[in-house]
Amino acid sequence: MGAPGIPRSLVASLIPRPVSVTQGDGVFVLDAATAVDAPAALRGVAAWLQGALRPATGLQIAAGVGGNVVLLTEPGLAAEGFELTVTPAEVRIAGGSAAGVFYGCQALLGLLPPAIHRRAPVAGIRWQIPTGTVHDAPRFGWRGVMLDVARHFLPKREVFRFLDLMAMHRLNMLHLHLTDDQGWRLEIRRYPRLTEIGAWRRETQVGAGPDAPGNGRPHGGFYSQDDIREIVAYAAERFITVVPEIESPGHVQAALAAYPQLGVSGGNLEVFTRWGINYNVLNMAETTVRFFTDVLNEVMDLFPSPYIGVGGDECPKDQWILDPRTQQRIAELGLADEEELQSWFIRRLNDHLRSAGRSLFGWDEILEGGGAPGATVASWRGTAGAVAAARSGCDVVSCPDDQAYLDYRQSDSPREPIPVSVVLTLRDVYHFDPVPAQLTAAEAEHVLGGQGNIWTEHMDSPRTVDYFAFPRLCALAEALWSAKGGDFEDFDRRLQLHLARLDALGVEYRRAAGPLPWQQRPGVPGRPETQDQRAAHIAALVANIALPADFASGS
Ligand code: ACM
Repeated sequence: MGAPGIPRSLVASLIPRPVSVTQGDGVFVLDAATAVDAPAALRGVAAWLQGALRPATGLQIAAGVGGNVVLLTEPGLAAEGFELTVTPAEVRIAGGSAAGVFYGCQALLGLLPPAIHRRAPVAGIRWQIPTGTVHDAPRFGWRGVMLDVARHFLPKREVFRFLDLMAMHRLNMLHLHLTDDQGWRLEIRRYPRLTEIGAWRRETQVGAGPDAPGNGRPHGGFYSQDDIREIVAYAAERFITVVPEIESPGHVQAALAAYPQLGVSGGNLEVFTRWGINYNVLNMAETTVRFFTDVLNEVMDLFPSPYIGVGGDECPKDQWILDPRTQQRIAELGLADEEELQSWFIRRLNDHLRSAGRSLFGWDEILEGGGAPGATVASWRGTAGAVAAARSGCDVVSCPDDQAYLDYRQSDSPREPIPVSVVLTLRDVYHFDPVPAQLTAAEAEHVLGGQGNIWTEHMDSPRTVDYFAFPRLCALAEALWSAKGGDFEDFDRRLQLHLARLDALGVEYRRAAGPLPWQQRPGVPGRPETQDQRAAHIAALVANIALPADFASGS
């Protein structure tokens, strides 16, 4: 099968690594008679599979009863699990749910030559699948990626492509970071200036650090509500939940540029053109709470996700400390300090989301000043947030920066483009474990899974996103799907064939030898840190995470 040097073995190429595999002697051959047989409830999956098999093979791949590619659900299997059985006469994909069947279809593609991912017939390939069985089920239910479309906008066609690549890797949660200081990317009908003003900036800082110059070039873009409905539907067809995130009460300068009355000073600001933590934050007036709950109402109408992100990270308290109106508000509300004020705001959003049957999703700063009952915490500053949240009974999605921040530099070579923070290699990501070692088994139940975070300050095009995301996202997918304790050398061997799949799809992944000339950014400064510098930085940031035991059961 396939190109020279590519092993035929069934096990040889699957990413993520399955629970178990047996391999037979023969092959199943896709030909003009190949047809998909699926019950009505799996018609969407069947249509997807037909669409995936047709272009490269040039075969019709019909659908109908008696077809030799059989899809079915089998309640005895794990919800997202599947059993793929290939004999010379038949391919049978049984899943614990439609999602499980879909993942079985993805595994089937993984058993075909990589050219299956091309979109025109490829001559000279025998489309054969080795016989055998694959049993598989994921370790975690939250296998996610955070995509920052606020710092650099990704047009919706790129989001569709990214969703396809997620689905191929059986990743199922797309955390879409829709708003930040540098851009508001979601149409809100009630507050049109959020995108009229907030969706574009005058220019962009190039590189890291206070001396990095601006490029003098406007940047912008946003998703209309119709665009979002398409993105959500496209994701759902691929069993991906899109978790929207509307940042607050910091990371809001794009909103303040549109509606200055939301700010502490009320003065005019432009959409931020610099990177880094920004001191301009929301005021805590009742009208501001109402503005954000109005926004969240439109967000909930658009996104069926059970989780709605409200941000909560990196909100400097300086303006609140200096502002008499905010100090009076703290006194009126009977709060101790600015941290409790932030927590009060997050709880107001939490109440609103809970009363609508949704659950608040926020960065681990939401644990400061008291936390929000029932919230799910994205733990990013190392693992301190994950440990505190799980111990207090909150659900956790782990994304510790030093294991899962895919914007961090991929090697210590000076050729890495705009290198930030510590080195996070493919091997490091492969060894990411969302469950901190300190947790007991009962506490670990609160870890829903993990996600890789793709912050795009220094990724100004989809090509650069490819460079930072791949192949590290392949390693992350295995870390979140497969059993703990995988062997990196084994993964790396399987990856060689997997890269041929990414080539067929046109993914501009990072080569093991480093960036290609056009993937470099000579002369653009980054902000690399040593492990010690980063550890000291994170330790200072998490010093005030503290929650009482059993906090989450309160309300
Ligand atoms: C974050 O990296 N500020 C969540």
